[in-house]
Amino acid sequence: MHKKHLFPPYVIFSSLVAALGSFLFGYHTAIISGGVIFIARDFGLTDFQEELLISITLVGGIFGAISGGVSDYLGRKRTMIIDAFLFLIATFLLFDAQSYGVLMGGRLLVGFAIGLASITVPLYIAEISPPESRGRFVSLNQLLITIGILVSFLVSYAYAAEGNWRMMFSVAFLPALLQLFCLLLIPETPPWLISKGQRSKAEKALHRLRIAPPSEHLVIKEKIAKRPVKSQFQDLLAPSVRAPFFIGIGISIFQQITGINTVIYYAPRIFQLAGFPSAESAILATVWIGAINVIMTLVGLWLVDRIGRRPLLIVGVLGMTLSLALLGFAFQFQNSGTGIEAIIALIVYVGCFAPGLGIVTWLIISEIYPLGVRGRAMSIATFANWTSNYIVTLTFLTLVQLLTAGGTYWLFTAICVLCLIYIWKKVPETKGKSFDQIQAFWQK
Ligand code: BGC
Repeated sequence: MHKKHLFPPYVIFSSLVAALGSFLFGYHTAIISGGVIFIARDFGLTDFQEELLISITLVGGIFGAISGGVSDYLGRKRTMIIDAFLFLIATFLLFDAQSYGVLMGGRLLVGFAIGLASITVPLYIAEISPPESRGRFVSLNQLLITIGILVSFLVSYAYAAEGNWRMMFSVAFLPALLQLFCLLLIPETPPWLISKGQRSKAEKALHRLRIAPPSEHLVIKEKIAKRPVKSQFQDLLAPSVRAPFFIGIGISIFQQITGINTVIYYAPRIFQLAGFPSAESAILATVWIGAINVIMTLVGLWLVDRIGRRPLLIVGVLGMTLSLALLGFAFQFQNSGTGIEAIIALIVYVGCFAPGLGIVTWLIISEIYPLGVRGRAMSIATFANWTSNYIVTLTFLTLVQLLTAGGTYWLFTAICVLCLIYIWKKVPETKGKSFDQIQAFWQK
């Protein structure tokens, strides 16, 4: 009854509005690395206080992720509206903070908002897009994360001379406000409306989005899933859910323990370790990393519905493995050429992460779960993602002290090899499949 449109304009608009949350995710996670030096100076922070200020956002992310299941109850759109509010309040707290306590509060709250966005955005987009172009639409999530990171690198660079950390934070105010306003113009997702028995609203949304409805048997499943909270979590271990449930968790953990955020959060420090002469040249090299991240995400976005998820993952992780080995090699046998080898290795590494584990992790966890448990299952996978991120970020500098930089990168190389084997054996191809077909696959 619906003519097939791969890129309906209203889906594009609604996805972009949702993905403003991803921009804020990227911006806020990365802006602190530029800002923290000046905050430490103004408030006279110790190293430990500095570390806490950085890592508390990841703790917030963990809490935000675990709260993501509320979108199964409140709806995807309402959850995003609440989230945009949280972003606004947190940004204001950070901008106006007169004490370390308020800064910590702001960073915790912003982390919570990021954690929540990291679930609701891909989930929302996956549920409003046509199956044939779902990969590309959901990749907008990762694209906007990487743009957020790049913009934060540029903004820190711009305000670094005057050390104006308040301005660094305040830049995030505008996208949050814009998102809040535009959220009022986009629909709730049809699958969620149907799952709540709001059939006529769902019909209206389907019509406006110009996409085909999910099939009836999904709806029946969801009604069956309406049970008390305890058994709601038992749903996740039901035979047809268990396998995708653990695959989602596995890939989310691998996305982090293969080391991406040691680069995103610590790039200038790595460049200095590798012998870059000045802080300025190290920051500039970091901007390059941010740019490659965006460019290669665009390449992934272009490819994901053409060649599929698995090839992107496999080639991407292979490239990461090789570049980490090169990095380990460069640090191990340090010589005068290390700086340039390090920058090449890091660029290749980020360039391979972006279209592979970067795009595909969030995509896979938004599309492999059955409708009735999707929010909850995603929330647990995302929780695993943020927890792993926290552990890696917190232990990275200690690892470098214990194992040296070379040893640390050999360790990440080994983890990448494990990741490659895991993907090869476990992760299914979902390219072009409708949610019904994916579900049928698991039921088999
Ligand atoms: C990851 C983040 C990471 C970012 C880098 C995202 O997919 O979840 O932890 O900082 O990619 O682009």
